Amino acid sequence: ARITLRQLLDHAAEKCYGVPAFNINNMEQALAIMQAADSLDAPAIMQASRGARAYANDIMLKHMMDAVVEIYPHIPVCVHLDHGNEPSSCMTAIQSGFTSVMMDGSLKADAKTPADWDYNVGVTKQVTEMAHLGGVSVEGELGVLGSLETGMSEAEDGHGAEGKLSQDQLLTNPDEAVKFVRETRVDALAIAMGASHGAYKFSRKPDGSVLAMNVIEQIHEKLPNIHLVMHGSSSVPVELQEIINQYGGQMKPTWGVPVEEIQRGIKNGVRKINIDTDVRMAMTGQVRRVLQEDPSEFDPRKYLKPAMVALTKLCKERFEQFGTAGKA
Ligand code: G3H
Ligand code: 13P
Ligand code: NA
Ligand code: ZN
Repeated sequence: ARITLRQLLDHAAEKCYGVPAFNINNMEQALAIMQAADSLDAPAIMQASRGARAYANDIMLKHMMDAVVEIYPHIPVCVHLDHGNEPSSCMTAIQSGFTSVMMDGSLKADAKTPADWDYNVGVTKQVTEMAHLGGVSVEGELGVLGSLETGMSEAEDGHGAEGKLSQDQLLTNPDEAVKFVRETRVDALAIAMGASHGAYKFSRKPDGSVLAMNVIEQIHEKLPNIHLVMHGSSSVPVELQEIINQYGGQMKPTWGVPVEEIQRGIKNGVRKINIDTDVRMAMTGQVRRVLQEDPSEFDPRKYLKPAMVALTKLCKERFEQFGTAGKA
């Protein structure tokens, strides 16, 4: 059945587990995630970005969500909008059957001016007021996702050394988080704690903690009833990099967020863990393998099926690691 983010994460908080939120863009991804959830009796979050909506069409996504709910009626599924950038994109997602939306007012608030603060609080509050009327959950974001290693924010990454942000600027301020939640009434809060989007998070194998666990702990202590969300939480497994590169890919050496760090986060109030890059890598490795091993192959099912199997395996690993397995 379809459930809201609030319903799912309230249960996760009560039982102290985390839920991976996998990005989907197509039928193969939706089916692979649900097969994993079904085999482990795990509740699932499927999220679609604005890019996914443009790629697949809202009507296609809507019917795809209906379809997986019909195929797996016993699995609780939250359908979530990832990084909504305007109240209007949140409202159209709700019209398409999403049970949860992210209003990311921090996209425009990287400079951290008072005007950015007012903008973020204003748009987020506007969305929560409307969404809650219809029983839809809302995720907000406060902070700049970026690498503590490079000092680069998601907006600046790759633009050289200029404009590097300090540790302080890259991390969500706990007191501001309290104010933000009080003013906006969001159900879940995405925080900046040292992770960044995409495959290139860390250029060395992390030794010790790569995330600002103290920030997570402080925010959780001040806001025990708010569900924390970690973006940029792909682990970028070396095995997946190797498969891609073994079959003609050219990924540069890179490290993601270690699963143990996410598990520590879950002990401190992190309930939703966003994963897209690992999804992409799991599928692409198999597509490359099949096409390279058999260049005469031209039936898409021959490479999409192994891609789905690899994604299902990844999802099962995360459901086990985050304690989601058995909680449906
Ligand atoms: O945070 C962004 C997600 O990875 C979605 O990426 O906008 O390319 O679909 P996308
Ligand atoms: P990754 O790029 O680490 O998978 O992060 C995805 C994400 O945060 C989507 O909102
Ligand atoms: Na941000
Ligand atoms: Zn994100």
